[in-house]
Amino acid sequence: MERVKRVGIIGAGNVGSTLAYILSATTPYQIILRDKDKDRARGMLLDMFQASCVGEKFAKLDVIASPKDLGGCDVIVVAAGSPRLPGMSRNDLLFANAKVISEIAKDIKENSPEAIVILVTNPLDAMVYTMLQETGFNPRQILGMAGILDSARMASFIYEKLQCAPGQIVAPVMGGHGDDMVPLPRFCMVNGVPLSELLEESQIQEVVQRTRNAGAEIVSRLKKGSAYFAPARATAEMICAIMSDSHKILPCSVLLQGEYGYRDVVGGVPVELGIHGIERVVELKLLPEEKQQFDKSIQSVQDLIDALKAEYFNS
Ligand code: 2OP
Repeated sequence: MERVKRVGIIGAGNVGSTLAYILSATTPYQIILRDKDKDRARGMLLDMFQASCVGEKFAKLDVIASPKDLGGCDVIVVAAGSPRLPGMSRNDLLFANAKVISEIAKDIKENSPEAIVILVTNPLDAMVYTMLQETGFNPRQILGMAGILDSARMASFIYEKLQCAPGQIVAPVMGGHGDDMVPLPRFCMVNGVPLSELLEESQIQEVVQRTRNAGAEIVSRLKKGSAYFAPARATAEMICAIMSDSHKILPCSVLLQGEYGYRDVVGGVPVELGIHGIERVVELKLLPEEKQQFDKSIQSVQDLIDALKAEYFNS
């Protein structure tokens, strides 16, 4: 019998628990949850298991108390750390969440060195870099979830304007997962029809701005935290692409190693996902103004990494 694939989720907050629920309801994977609040994780697990008993398939869920039980995970998702609150930028979480990620990195390194690691914690790209530094893992093994989320948000805003073609809208977003992320209208297609054929330039620019602000818009309405349904769904998409060795092309946050002219910095780019994690980084030929926006966005990530290097990694 084929071994049941195992997904570890560290952090049973809104994103972690929603992800666990999506996976438990839609995949055959064994899901293990770890949270510093064990009671909360146990309560979540009971609720999800009971939800699965409404149907015919019992979810395979466990809460783990010891990092040793991370052993044998095919994929580990790190969704621990603080979310941003109204008035905060993702970058305000830099040092507090870097500490959380460093501790988790030690556990993963010791107990599950073969796992593909997906980061969700913000500021996303800097947390991917922190995980790479603290584990020393192969850079193809560590990636961040943001591009699928940002692209889905862009697609949702295009849909709002068009009021047609749900499921046919492809809307790539690249760069860092920050205020200067790079939505790419030139690559937006509605079942092969370029967006420029369907919307006015002013409408496209509204979509671009709303996409950049989409996370903050939700934070300001929720008041007590940030988005979690779409982030969890986007993470599930990455996990399924990896587990099924699909080689799907999806935008993810990865260490750049010469691609787009960058090294030793993390940013969102299209990658092919498979059983080894990042199978290939796809290099789009960007126009000068698109490249300029990408450069600005990567510079913002570089500034965070430089701050970590100066005040965190060496201290
Ligand atoms: C967002 O954009 C959580 O960063 C995430 O909503």
